[in-house]
Amino acid sequence: MKILTVVGARPQFIKASMLSKEFEKDSNIKEILVHTGQHYDADMSDVFFEQLKIPKPDYHLGIGSGTHGKQTGKMLSEIESILLKEKPDMVLVYGDTNSTLAGSLAASKLHIPIAHVEAGLRSFNKKMPEEINRLLTDHLSTWLFCPTKSALNNLRREGIKENVFITGDIMYDAVLHYKYEAIKHSTILTRLNLVKKDYYLVTIHRAENTDRMDRLKTLLTVLSQLDRPVVLPLHPRTKKKIEHWGLGSIISAAHIHTITPLDYFDMLTLESEAKIILTDSGGVQKEAYMLRVPCITLRDETEWIETVEAKWNSIVGADQQKILKEISDKKEPNSYPMLFGDGKTSGKIYKIISGR
Ligand code: UD1
Ligand code: UDP
Repeated sequence: MKILTVVGARPQFIKASMLSKEFEKDSNIKEILVHTGQHYDADMSDVFFEQLKIPKPDYHLGIGSGTHGKQTGKMLSEIESILLKEKPDMVLVYGDTNSTLAGSLAASKLHIPIAHVEAGLRSFNKKMPEEINRLLTDHLSTWLFCPTKSALNNLRREGIKENVFITGDIMYDAVLHYKYEAIKHSTILTRLNLVKKDYYLVTIHRAENTDRMDRLKTLLTVLSQLDRPVVLPLHPRTKKKIEHWGLGSIISAAHIHTITPLDYFDMLTLESEAKIILTDSGGVQKEAYMLRVPCITLRDETEWIETVEAKWNSIVGADQQKILKEISDKKEPNSYPMLFGDGKTSGKIYKIISGR
């Protein structure tokens, strides 16, 4: 069985690393890895391949950045050529990026079955590029692997009922697999001179926050007002926007550690020991929950509603007063329901895909 996997962005490398390990164990499966090159800086791409021991991609398209149409269009054309040459039995895609959409569009036109990992997520906000990517990919997919019950319900409402499976969340596999190794090897707390549970970890990269100067300025201003060290590993998109709008001085205070994107081990370590995580990332919201750290989501909605219902996560948008109030009120809830499965998601997906 030939499976062609399309990845391109940071969180997809982490997710794919877990399922690839399952395929490697099966001599009847050959996985062909295609890296679109959507993320290309060493600290957004290579570092994950090295640290998570992901095999070198069979094809590296080197597409790079661009407008949605140009970026997705170039990927579509390149992936189509590879599919025509390789003739895989299935195309495997993860999440909701432009690389996901390009992979699924190319496969669907060639009548190649698609497996979508992290299917059924919805923010119900079609201004998010990711929402378009998810909707289209889910409607083109043959196998849909949902991390949560609410994801499955979203698909049902859209009439997608066949070959839909609740498998748990593949990121939870990665967290459980790497957590102890990460904490053992990472020196990030010492390097930044941080005291456990006495700092805030912040990530910001969503278009809705980075592409609007008012929102970005508000968020950075909040960070400048916090009472504890703030660690801010900057996504290149955010770095560029801060420079473009000349907002750097807002985060120049000594308590803010503005650093380059982190490798996965440093990130997991920082997440585990943070007092509170503030983020607009989907993956980081989930990891906060998986590591039992309270989270404040700097968005107006989330796809990961279970974490909010469980009271470990709260949605505050980019509202300065709300964020500050939430930080001072935030407490660890007493209960901790298992929201993301049992950490054996990749094994379940492998079994369904391989028919074993
Ligand atoms: C993409 C995904 C988003 C995901 C995120 C994970 C889409 C539409 N968005 O957002 O869903 O949450 O990845 O991190 O697919 N850049 C660099 N170096 C890089 C990569 C990007 O400098 O290695 C800069 C470029 O200026 C680029 C900008 O970041 O234009 C945005 O990159 P892009 O991949 O288009 O979107 P992300 O914001 O990374
Ligand atoms: N991550 C990382 N280093 C960083 C920021 C994030 O390793 O500096 C990891 C994080 O732990 C999670 C994933 O990248 O596993 C989330 O990716 P991101 O926030 O870029 O995208 P999203 O999940 O929002 O699509």
